[in-house]
Amino acid sequence: MRTHSTLSARLLGYSAARYAFALLAVAFAFFVQWVLRGVLHGYSPYLTLIAAIGFSAWYCGLLPSVVAVTISTLAARYWFIRPIHSFQISNFEQAIGLATFLLVSGLFMLMGEARRRDNEILRLAHADLENRIRQRTAELDAANHGLRQLSARLMQLQDDERRRIARELHDSVGQMLAALGMNLSTVKADLERLTKAVNAVTDSAALVDELNKEIRTISHLLHPPLLDEAGLASALRWYSDGFAQRSKIQVDLDLPAQFGRLSGELETTIFRVVQECLTNIHRHSGSSVAKIRLSQSGDEVIVRVADEGRGLSPKKQDAIAEAATPGVGVRGMRERVRQLGGTLEINSNGEGRGTAVIVRLPVTQGASTVAA
Ligand SMILES: Nc1ncnc2c1ncn2[C@@H]1O[C@H](COP(=O)(O)OP(=O)(O)OP(=O)(O)O)[C@@H](O)[C@H]1O
Ligand SMILES: [Mg+2]
Repeated sequence: MRTHSTLSARLLGYSAARYAFALLAVAFAFFVQWVLRGVLHGYSPYLTLIAAIGFSAWYCGLLPSVVAVTISTLAARYWFIRPIHSFQISNFEQAIGLATFLLVSGLFMLMGEARRRDNEILRLAHADLENRIRQRTAELDAANHGLRQLSARLMQLQDDERRRIARELHDSVGQMLAALGMNLSTVKADLERLTKAVNAVTDSAALVDELNKEIRTISHLLHPPLLDEAGLASALRWYSDGFAQRSKIQVDLDLPAQFGRLSGELETTIFRVVQECLTNIHRHSGSSVAKIRLSQSGDEVIVRVADEGRGLSPKKQDAIAEAATPGVGVRGMRERVRQLGGTLEINSNGEGRGTAVIVRLPVTQGASTVAA
């Protein structure tokens, strides 16, 4: 079946070859008829021709078969059926023979055409399937590549973060504890010199206060408790105030008047997005202002964080879109947003014109209490 279809496919590719094979089959049928003329005496020459027509209908296509049938009919009548060298149909039997030959040939051609149409449909479906598999494989490869890069970078970032916290604890908390220890030993050793000891104790109390504040700041920056307890609006106000103080960037926070609670994961995602955008504005934009705007339209919350800094060149925008930048900030935001069924868009009208990050997140029913 496979060899047959390959042979006919090859023949169908060359139109001259199709006609040549059809005519050769007819010629061969006449040759057999001529060789067996003694044995087949009195039988219709159409018997051998039918086989030739069957062959051309199966392998050579419709038009070559029509030509083969026409030539066979004329030649058989002219050279093999009495009276020879005439096209006249002299009796009822000859008419029946001719009609049967034409009918069977027509049937063969119909079957051949139906088979070719089926083969063509199968071939197209096969090609389409292969195409789709190739596309899917390429998409999967790209997604896998992105994921591998992201997880490697995340792990590296986690190590960096741990190192940073450890250094922070060592440099600030550790130093203060060491000072506290020294003060206490002074108090112990110089207990008789009470005045000195009172100073040391006062100093220690101040150190303990500072230590407390430092630990609270570190822990609150890692995960603000306000976010869980008082909600996104309070956490954003607290964070943007602190950010403005630390970075000297003027932050303009625009929240809907009655800002209620959203689902926990939605609030965390929005908080992390704003945190990353503000950090990026501080690190990359050179802008002296940052504008955060939260709004709701229909069933989605829209977060827009914009600056008036150096913006992004089209090349940089392409690199970010293809995840070809070494940073994980934008990729991490995009992944968080994607997991909640939302979208993230970065707009920049070129260098020197500022950048705006726009995130749209669907609000699951019953979880929204944002009033625009
Ligand atoms: N507000 C902005 N203004 C100008 N360029 C920006 C801004 N935000 C991001 N970029 C550019 O986009 C790049 C990608 O940002 P992304 O946050 O993914 O990485 P990063 O900040 O460099 O590193 P990471 O966030 O992993 O610490 C940055 O390197 C920077 O060049
Ligand atoms: Mg970043």
